[in-house]
Amino acid sequence: MTRRLALVGLGPGDPELVTAQAARVLNEVDFFLVADKTEQHPGTADLIAMRETICDRHVTGEWRIVHVPDPERDRADPADYGAAVRDWHEARAVAFEEALLEHPGDAAILVWGDPALYDSAIRLADRIVERGNADVAVEVIPGLSSVQLLAARHGLVLNTIGGPITITTGRRLLDDAAEGDNLVVMLDGSLTCRSLPDPSAWRIWWGANLGSSDEQLVSGRLDEVADEIEARRAQARAARGWVMDTYLLRRRVSGAQEA
Ligand SMILES: C[S@@+](CC[C@H](N)C(=O)[O-])C[C@H]1O[C@@H](n2cnc3c(N)ncnc32)[C@H](O)[C@@H]1O
Repeated sequence: MTRRLALVGLGPGDPELVTAQAARVLNEVDFFLVADKTEQHPGTADLIAMRETICDRHVTGEWRIVHVPDPERDRADPADYGAAVRDWHEARAVAFEEALLEHPGDAAILVWGDPALYDSAIRLADRIVERGNADVAVEVIPGLSSVQLLAARHGLVLNTIGGPITITTGRRLLDDAAEGDNLVVMLDGSLTCRSLPDPSAWRIWWGANLGSSDEQLVSGRLDEVADEIEARRAQARAARGWVMDTYLLRRRVSGAQEA
């Protein structure tokens, strides 16, 4: 019999930001699946604990999480980044498939933020379906993304009037900033914006550990606030053992408009 495999976006950490639909689906399935990276990155235990807090808050009755150990990603050859990620996705699909075959019933993968934004759950589920060993019907339940929470916390409209937004990663920022003037940056482990050629030409709205009790927010001209962001980033990491940050960079039009 075909089983449900729901990819449930839980939002960026705050239990109040879980949608009613996500809460309903969490109550309908038999168990939850999470990718467990604690062996490689012990600090991520906290991210699993935050998912557990969300389940406690929204699931009536007992619930069960099946931890799927995350395979190690080969980072030895950064030149072949795409191939390394593909191999890792395949190993993950096999690991999740094994968990599904071992545990009967309907399942939900607990996804951080929204499943459609820099998350591998949808590709993972597609691959599980393609492999054909686990008979599952996949459904995607959207969640609030960290980008939306960043915008809300700063009271910010992400786009300029009628203008485009580039959503990119720390790895691509220096190239993308040469082309665009309004960029959201995610997955940036080292505050790459500090390496932009002319920091005084940019304004930044930065947020770390959004939705948690030690959330950090800073905004201002990049050259003026970069040191403070660096310090707050270190503070957020010290508080929890991990830091996740997202920021919007917008090229300044003129000094007068920045006042
Ligand atoms: C693997 S991506 C997951 C994004 C997620 N699917 C979303 O919709 O927000 C992880 C990146 O999202 C951003 N992120 C996720 N949660 C965050 C949070 N609570 N505060 C700030 N940034 C966050 C960071 O840029 C982090 O490096």
